[in-house]
Amino acid sequence: MAAQGSTSTSKATGVVFSGMRPTGRLHLGNYLGALENWVHLQDSYRCIYCVVDIHALTTIENPQDVAEIKPNIHEMVLDWLAAGVDPQRSIIFVQSQVPEVMTLHTLLSMVTPLGWLLRVPTFKDKVRQMDETEETVNYGLVGYPVLQTADIILYKADTVPVGQDQLPHLELAREIVRRFNFRFGETFPEPQAKLTEAPLIVGLDGQQKMSKSMDNHVELAASAQETTKRVLTAFTDPQRLRRDQPGRPEVCNVYSLHQLFSPASEVGTVHQECTTAKRGCVDCKRHLAASINNYLAPLRERREQFRQNPDYVRDILADGAAKARAIAQQTIGEVYQRMGLA
Ligand code: TRP
Ligand code: SF4
Repeated sequence: MAAQGSTSTSKATGVVFSGMRPTGRLHLGNYLGALENWVHLQDSYRCIYCVVDIHALTTIENPQDVAEIKPNIHEMVLDWLAAGVDPQRSIIFVQSQVPEVMTLHTLLSMVTPLGWLLRVPTFKDKVRQMDETEETVNYGLVGYPVLQTADIILYKADTVPVGQDQLPHLELAREIVRRFNFRFGETFPEPQAKLTEAPLIVGLDGQQKMSKSMDNHVELAASAQETTKRVLTAFTDPQRLRRDQPGRPEVCNVYSLHQLFSPASEVGTVHQECTTAKRGCVDCKRHLAASINNYLAPLRERREQFRQNPDYVRDILADGAAKARAIAQQTIGEVYQRMGLA
């Protein structure tokens, strides 16, 4: 296994690590923005994909949030498997099942200046969003990027597929690694972000981004009927008030979704019929819903098979945790040596 036994660390390990917080069922934006890329990376890398449930605890506010973690993990892993994350080729596991990550988090916190963490933009945003101050915020939230660094380097991963928003975390991870290696000797490779080249997936409401919190999304797991119902609520060109007016596809989010999910031959027709007032927006949305349903049909079928076999899913996660743990224990052994704890 590439991650094991490599003590010389400047060379590439070819190991990919990425994680998602257990937010439950994923949507089209998560699919095109991350998951699809995870699936492709399996062809060229040794991949490790992790459900980061401990990270989810950093923003927990009530018992309901806690109660949702387990079912959310299950729903999200069903989406991963349905999308083609392949347990034969990749390690798929739940973060808390490999507790070594918390050991490494603690040890890395000894080489991480507090100022670095307080300056991370996602930290400042979260503090603001949660109506906290730097005095009242959980210590765990401050350490979020340290835990993320531990996730990655526990497996000596050098390639981390993430979105733009995670770049500051990866920058910090490299700084922590440099400090660790400088103080204790070359141990870890510096992880590089691998930006997912995905177009922006607009929300049904015309917002810039499809997101669960905005409730403007289409779940991968939705039924065809639910999908159609939701797509019919989508905003269109706001200046097109009547059926006999030409529309402007370039400002219409339904059109931008057509570009992603309808066959290329149909996209041209949509454009032409819209700009000549030959199609109404309701028909156009029905057409889009059909395209999305077509696009997702194979994924939904596979998902249903996994859903009917929860024992199999449990086995995959247990097996993934065992494999991850074997690597993690080796790394912790090495870190203990380096830090004078062995
Ligand atoms: N912080 C990431 C996010 O919110 C999730 C994450 C946790 C992660 N650990 C990771 C991503 C390690 C990549 C690598 O999306
Ligand atoms: Fe948008 Fe389609 Fe209506 Fe044109 S016809 S404005 S592309 S929904």
